[in-house]
Amino acid sequence: MMTSILLFTSAACALCLAGCAMPHGSANGQVSKTPFGTADGQAVELYTLRNSKGAEADIMTYGGIVEKLKMPDRNGNIADIVLGFDSLDGYTSDAYLKSCPYFGALIGRYGNRIGGAKFTLDGNTYTLAPNNNGNTLHGGIKGFDKVVWKAVKADVGPQGPYVELSYLSKDGEEGFPGNLQVTARYTLTEDNALKLEYKATTDKDTVVNLTHHSYFNLKGQGNGDILDHQVYINADKTTPTDKDLIPTGAFADVTGTPFDFRKPTAIGARINDPDTVLQYGPGYDHNWVLNKPLGKFGLAARVTEPTTGRVMEVWTDQPGLQFYAGNFLDGTITGKDGKVYQRRYAFCMEPQHYPDSPNKPQFPTTELKPGQTYHNTIVYKFSTL
Ligand code: BGC
Repeated sequence: MMTSILLFTSAACALCLAGCAMPHGSANGQVSKTPFGTADGQAVELYTLRNSKGAEADIMTYGGIVEKLKMPDRNGNIADIVLGFDSLDGYTSDAYLKSCPYFGALIGRYGNRIGGAKFTLDGNTYTLAPNNNGNTLHGGIKGFDKVVWKAVKADVGPQGPYVELSYLSKDGEEGFPGNLQVTARYTLTEDNALKLEYKATTDKDTVVNLTHHSYFNLKGQGNGDILDHQVYINADKTTPTDKDLIPTGAFADVTGTPFDFRKPTAIGARINDPDTVLQYGPGYDHNWVLNKPLGKFGLAARVTEPTTGRVMEVWTDQPGLQFYAGNFLDGTITGKDGKVYQRRYAFCMEPQHYPDSPNKPQFPTTELKPGQTYHNTIVYKFSTL
């Protein structure tokens, strides 16, 4: 039986993550931690953030994974709205790693695909670990989603309960240059938003593109497919791809195509349309070019679920949004509460730089140099209608 430890809210107690055994909380919620098994011989912990509205986010130090996210519906009923497993074993089993859907994970060092598993920077060609049709997907064979992060802070701050994770990705890890020091802070705010703040520094020129990979189903995890969810995406263009989902380098206007989500539309309305690029997915698994100035924080997408009234807004300072409709889920994974995850039972909204940017000089750069700090803020904000 695993016991949770509720952590202090005072400054002194934020330092005693490892040993504190007293209950802690405040009007703005609480944070507690629970041992969650071991991976790579290292202890894994689960941090539970709760706000005073009854919302909850459970963050694992393995993979920076959001293991649970509980939000109210229009009648105040709370449900877990992300796919995942009840224990660490689910995430580390051979069967799961073979299909590797990255449930809830912190994705890095480079989220999405790098074509041909290589790129050139400062005249040096770097060969990466290929894990997706000869390309590198989500950081390689052992990306940031499969390493144990260190919890360096956990407390209840002015915005709500938070936990901050840290990881040093060594020079050469999965083929990427430079020692990359990364921190990721997860805050559950009083207004039911999950706020993710990533920072990174390097000691050698490198590329960085971090993102978050929760599989959402606003009806509740495992409760049917997401084809009736209505999606709005704040984008006039996408970056069309080849059959392996590597961008061609062109930009495509969404007008008159199944990629036009400027008016809220059900995910299922056009997902099977005979559009060549759409069917490379097969179905939505593409990058939208967000309508906002580079680096500016703004609304990327809004998703509403008619039966429960749950609404999720995605806010970001990143230039792109990968919208993935769970096309590769196939019923072979049984997750939390014994729920079987069938095709399109969840969707991902991953704010990020455009795929394959290191090989596409026409895309905004993902380079990070010594002395610079990479920043990336993603907010998933929940409400009801
Ligand atoms: C990618 C999909 C991939 C999924 C799980 C998404 O971010 O766009 O192509 O299947 O992650 O790996």
